[in-house]
Amino acid sequence: MSSFPKDFLWGASTASYQIEGAAHEDGRGPSIWDTFSRTPGKVVNGDTGDVACDHYHRVKEDVALIKNMNVGAYRFSTAWPRIQPIGKGAMNEKGLDFYDNLVDQLLANGITPFTCFYHWDLPQALQDKGGWANRDTAFYYRDYAEIVARRLSDRVKHFVTFNEPNVFTLLGNLDGIHAPGIKDGETTLRAIHHVNLGHGLAIKMLREMSPDLKLGATHSIQPHHPATDKEEDIHACDVATAFWSWAFPDPQSFGTYPEVIRHYFEPIVQDGDMAIIQNDLDYLGLNHYTHSIEKADPSHPFGFGGAPLRPGTKVTGMGWPIDPGAFKETLLDLTERYKLPIYVMENGCGYEEDADENGYVDDHWREDFFRAYLSAMHEAISEGANVKGYFPWSLMDNYEWAEGYIKRFGLVHVDYNTLKRTPKRSYNFFAKVAAENKLT
Ligand code: FCB
Repeated sequence: MSSFPKDFLWGASTASYQIEGAAHEDGRGPSIWDTFSRTPGKVVNGDTGDVACDHYHRVKEDVALIKNMNVGAYRFSTAWPRIQPIGKGAMNEKGLDFYDNLVDQLLANGITPFTCFYHWDLPQALQDKGGWANRDTAFYYRDYAEIVARRLSDRVKHFVTFNEPNVFTLLGNLDGIHAPGIKDGETTLRAIHHVNLGHGLAIKMLREMSPDLKLGATHSIQPHHPATDKEEDIHACDVATAFWSWAFPDPQSFGTYPEVIRHYFEPIVQDGDMAIIQNDLDYLGLNHYTHSIEKADPSHPFGFGGAPLRPGTKVTGMGWPIDPGAFKETLLDLTERYKLPIYVMENGCGYEEDADENGYVDDHWREDFFRAYLSAMHEAISEGANVKGYFPWSLMDNYEWAEGYIKRFGLVHVDYNTLKRTPKRSYNFFAKVAAENKLT
């Protein structure tokens, strides 16, 4: 039996584009994901987030699902194009009202909101002007975050600037497999720096707005291992690790880019930028799923590429290695590196799954996954990792980006024909862990 610390916070996680639907309602403008999902060949089955889980119309029911999971917190994101349909200028009251009401319902049910300003749905109008590669976007982002915080910060204290800046800048601008679907090294470097700048501008604005806010960013961090012990693979792995793991949290905490990739940013960084980007933060948000293997790839703009997994590696339905040891290692490493409390804001596994005639999924594979990962987290905490909370991904099945609706990560099953929600076996398991604050 493994008990967790007394004040440990159990939560649940979602993201706007993945669950809300109502893509054309109440003045919401188009985002880069509306465009990308409609681009032939980019998303499995051409699926879009137009309806998704229809959360926009089902807030009450979804808040009840969170409450009945016995958790004390919920991380969601606000959709920039709902609040500023073209990413700047006039705000759309109805968009703000939606989140205002969500927050009220969460609080009425004793659930602490963690609000993330950006989970990948950039207004398309800003992409048309260069997106994150355009320095202006950082300043528009700060203004947008200010609108949200002015409206919600009397009730919301925890704000997250960005979800996984590494994933959306690299998959979206370097690999081209996420929105906006660009494959260009220079665009990627500019996007990385401007996201960091946007983060810093927003943190400084929020600190001025109110001293009692709890602020951080959420990063996807996992171990990267070289494919062989050849020098070029080891170097490629160092570069990959710098881009994937440290290119955001290092500047945000230390005011410098990792040494092995610093030269790439020198032409882009302007005087004073690093001082804006570096701030004292209240916590580090961690999303963690797996480990990866890297090798040298001279055809890649920065010289690295993914390599085949080690023989015998067990994987989820996404093909991602199941490696609880990597989770433990990451929690301990991050505690040491950034000296910040950590909230695990995403962790989970995706599979193609079938429900029975009642909509129930007996997902013992997900229960096994959570058991193994929670136990690894427990070990990490007993060895000194400063972990304050854990939010599984995801509350319910949802739009899994380029994988469309095929891959399901939810603790609650969603029937995409009827939109009926049915808690899975893993939901019941998790509700018990959260209620008892221990793993039995
Ligand atoms: C993360 C994303 C989240 C979800 C999971 C599976 O990279 O933050 O939206 O898609 O992966």
